[in-house]
Amino acid sequence: MKKDLIITIFGSTGDLTARKLLPAITKLYNNEEITDNVKVIALGRRDYDTNSYLNAMQNLTTENLDLTTLSTFVEYYKIQITDVNDYHKFNDYIKSISHTETKHIYYLAIGPEILATVAKNISESKLIARNNINQVLVFEKPFGNSLETAIQINQMLWQYFDETQIYRIDHYLGKEMIQNLMTVRFANRIFEDTWSSDSIKSIKIYAKEKEGILNRAGYYDTAGALKDMVQSHLLQVLSLIAMDAPKEYQSEYIKDEKVNVLRNISFDKDSIIFGQYDGYLNEANIPANSQTETLVYFKAFVNTHHFRGVPFEILTGKALKNKESFIEVTYHTTSEQEKWNLPVQANKLTIKFAPYDGVDLTINSKKPGLKDNLEVVNLSYQMAESVQGNVPEAYEKLILDVVDGHKTLFTRWDEIEASWQIVDQIKQFKKDLFIYKNEDEVMEKIGSIQK
Ligand SMILES: NC(=O)c1ccc[n+]([C@@H]2O[C@H](COP(=O)([O-])OP(=O)(O)OC[C@H]3O[C@@H](n4cnc5c(N)ncnc54)[C@H](OP(=O)(O)O)[C@@H]3O)[C@@H](O)[C@H]2O)c1
Repeated sequence: MKKDLIITIFGSTGDLTARKLLPAITKLYNNEEITDNVKVIALGRRDYDTNSYLNAMQNLTTENLDLTTLSTFVEYYKIQITDVNDYHKFNDYIKSISHTETKHIYYLAIGPEILATVAKNISESKLIARNNINQVLVFEKPFGNSLETAIQINQMLWQYFDETQIYRIDHYLGKEMIQNLMTVRFANRIFEDTWSSDSIKSIKIYAKEKEGILNRAGYYDTAGALKDMVQSHLLQVLSLIAMDAPKEYQSEYIKDEKVNVLRNISFDKDSIIFGQYDGYLNEANIPANSQTETLVYFKAFVNTHHFRGVPFEILTGKALKNKESFIEVTYHTTSEQEKWNLPVQANKLTIKFAPYDGVDLTINSKKPGLKDNLEVVNLSYQMAESVQGNVPEAYEKLILDVVDGHKTLFTRWDEIEASWQIVDQIKQFKKDLFIYKNEDEVMEKIGSIQK
């Protein structure tokens, strides 16, 4: 039977496919979010048949893969991804199982070193024809490792494909609470009206991890915290927090506003900390003299009408006390608080996205009783556990959006360009590495540069 949806995965024998892509596609299929007339073609150079491929995938991940369901729509197909002749043969096969309306997704779950070869072969063999919006390409970060290399990758892609056919995945944007940021901001009058330097004193964007680098030495040591976390994830979060309201709730308008934020960022060079956890050099496969940072902190400013003068503190680091990611918005105190000399604290809005999603708002309140004492109380919303378990994984949402052609959660080229410009500048201020043993030392260090 001719298929309505064909997802072809390059690099299908890798970690990403086993841990994220196959489980996400299975869930979408079981929940009838995608057509049941789907085929997933797993391309690889290894000698598998579909059965042995799926078993090998199960051995790669601790996730319980639903092999029975997967075997109904997955097919393993052997190919040399460096040989264009194999693509021509593969295209003949694709044509034989598709009709003119079939949606074709080519998912490049491969490293940057073979991206250009695969993109060229896909184009040359006409698996993706530039004018066909039903044929799209998905690829993963890293989007280069500097502005220069990012430009090279992008120019290479534009040589073969139209921008409308390119989906750049930053899975952070698929996280439920990150998607919720715009709703919290723009669908609540109390926040929308106070979302500017008139009311907001400072904002923290923190992404703390408890684990070290686990077994990702090869990738991590060439990237480091600045490129791994700040370039894509945290600058994306910052742009969602600081952007003006888009003209319409539509992908291109939203991206225009995000880019406007990124182009107006400056940073305080004296605030920059590059850290490395004590013990990093003893991790397997890390060079003894590695200068790679596992922590970055800096203070940025968004020089727009709404946020000029408000410091945004960015922190990301590994081997800290807990896994904890949040955005903390600190408001100014009220004029009455100051006039009446009330012993109260500034309101804080905290939007949490790891380990749990939730929103906290602190308010000052009278302590119940006969005296006029005040206390800070917390209005707290935490997504119910029953809901937490059912929250779609970022990859489910992102794959579904590719199927439906929704681009809001994918990064446009100018966002990547602007964020690399910032990262390349910050990188220049990397001097001494601050070696930290624990989170307390990090907080002390940050405290010392605030003074
Ligand atoms: N894993 C994640 O959670 C994650 C998250 C975000 C982004 N990413 C990005 O996604 C991409 C894939 O990541 P991954 O973790 O899945 O990598 P991986 O486990 O190293 O898998 C790489 C895949 O590419 C194939 N491959 C590599 N060189 C090849 C060559 N010369 N010819 C044919 N096939 C080749 C491998 O095939 P063999 O099995 O035959 O070697 C394997 O299927 C990377 O760009 C990574 O940065 C991954």
